[in-house]
Order: sequence, then C-alpha cells, then structure tokens
Amino acid sequence: MSKAIVVGSINMDIVAFVKKHPKIGETIFGNDVKYFPGGKGSNQAVSCKRIGCETAMIGRLGDDSNGQQMLEFLRNEGVNVSGVVKLEQTVTGTAFITVSESSDNSIIVISGANVLWGDEFLKDIDVNEDDIVLAQFEVPDAVIEASFEHAKKYGALTILNPAPVRQISDEILKRTDVMVVNEHELEELSGMPVSAKDDETVFNAAEVLAHKGINSVVVTLGERGVRLFWDGQRKRINSRSVTAVDTTGAGDTFIGGLTAGLLKGGTLKQAAELGNIAASISVTREGAASSIPTIDEVNEIFGNNDGN
Ligand code: RIB
Repeated sequence: MSKAIVVGSINMDIVAFVKKHPKIGETIFGNDVKYFPGGKGSNQAVSCKRIGCETAMIGRLGDDSNGQQMLEFLRNEGVNVSGVVKLEQTVTGTAFITVSESSDNSIIVISGANVLWGDEFLKDIDVNEDDIVLAQFEVPDAVIEASFEHAKKYGALTILNPAPVRQISDEILKRTDVMVVNEHELEELSGMPVSAKDDETVFNAAEVLAHKGINSVVVTLGERGVRLFWDGQRKRINSRSVTAVDTTGAGDTFIGGLTAGLLKGGTLKQAAELGNIAASISVTREGAASSIPTIDEVNEIFGNNDGN
C-alpha cells in the first residue's frame, strides 16, 4: 500500500492566547496558556494519517517528557514511528506561539533534537515508487537532500514545504516535484513582489519557481484560498468561509490533505481541494495537530463541495 513518509520536525507547542500581539518592548497579560502537539513535520504526518493514508514519520526527539508525550501522541494517531529516534541529553523541539483574538500567530522555534541527525536515518526510509516523501525546513538541508535523493532512487514523488523559508539548495531543488509555499515564502524564493490580493503576482512568482525546475507549485493564501501552477496551467481554488480562531498548522493540515489526495490517485486540483477543506476546518479549532480533521469530517464537506 502506498504511503506518506514525512522527514521533519517534532515540537511541543506552548501557546499563549492573547487579545493582541505585544509590541516590541511591551509587556502584556495573556488570556490562557495551553500545550499542543506541533512541529511542521509531525503536524503534516498527523494530517496525512487523519485524512486517510498510511504514514511514517522520520524525526528526532529529546529524552525529556515533551519527547515522550510527542512519541505517544504520534503512536496513538497510528503514525508509524519506527523512524523516530530519541537522543540522549537533548531537548525536544519547542515552539513558543502567540495566538491573537484575530486568529493569527507568531512563532519562535527552538530546534533542539530536530537539527541533530547522524547519517543512519536513511535505513528507516522504506520507500517505494508509489510513495510520497515530504519535507519542511525545520530540519537541516543535508537531511532533506539525502532523503529526496533516496526517494528519487525509488521513483517516489517528493513534496517540499520550505518553511520557515531559507534559500533552497540546488540538490533539493532538482529533486523536488511539488513545492507548497505561502505568500511570504513565494516572495522570498522567487525574488518577485507577491500580493495575495493580486493573482497575477502570485502566478508570475510561481512561474519563476517552475522555471527553476519544480513541476508543480502550490501557493496557500489563507482566507484567499489556494493557487496552483503546473505545466504552464493556472488554477484558483477559493477558500471556504469560516470563523477562524487559530490558524496555527493550517498550512500543515493542507499539505497532509494534498498528500492524501494524491496518494488516493486524485489530480493535483482534486488533492488541493481536499487539503483546502481540511485546512478550513482546522482554523476553527485551537492548536496545530489537535485541530486537524478526520477524513469523515472532511468528506462531510467535500461531498457537498461544488469544486470551485
Ligand atoms: O506550522 C505550525 C508549526 O510551526 C507549529 O506547530 C510549530 O511547532 C512550528 O513548527
């Protein structure tokens, strides 16, 4: 059976819910603090699994209580964790997140174990040609380069989410089939001005990435939906109108839905529509991984979707 293999970060998210984000130098009182499972890699793995595909996680944890909780969380979700390794005398990745009453967030990540990889992780990536290998930028380039090289050796599809954004090495670029970026990442990587309000700027910047050798560029624009650019084609997918309470992890939820949709044999457009609906549900709930819907919840809406 085909599967998603996520090579990425695992974090514990410590979330402060506030009325407004503090200004620099300002001290404010928050409304609440909560701990949620997070990390872009882990969130995407949970999304793939909840939205219906076999999923394996390749990641690194510390030997602390956060690491133990995250391992149990992923295992209980049904994610294959045989490629998740606990490192001695190391802290688990931690994200400090502020979520405002207008549902937007700011995030500081302390990488901890997420950047401590040896060479031995490739043996845990049991990849076949029908699989999809996913990576984000919360782990070192060398790990992604080796994973994508391994994936391509077996003919698997690769999806890169270059977040938090940094320049992409040629080694990664030439082995990336699908790239998923938000407005800011697209602007940074294309070197072009991008405005979510102006589709032309989005598609023109996506075309710049396509010229660097990426088959399919998927741009997530939050409440403005998703834009697809592939083989010179441009497609717009509108977002659903919902009342958002916390947008943390919405992009990760989308990527899990996209991956699950592709693994089920859907087209890029169909898979992106699935991801779009999953993300629209996730923003109505608090937390990153905890907000990701199940396939039944997605289908309830997807069945009624007019396809935009
Ligand atoms: O994409 C959201 C995630 O970014 C959070 O869960 C946090 O851990 C950071 O990695």
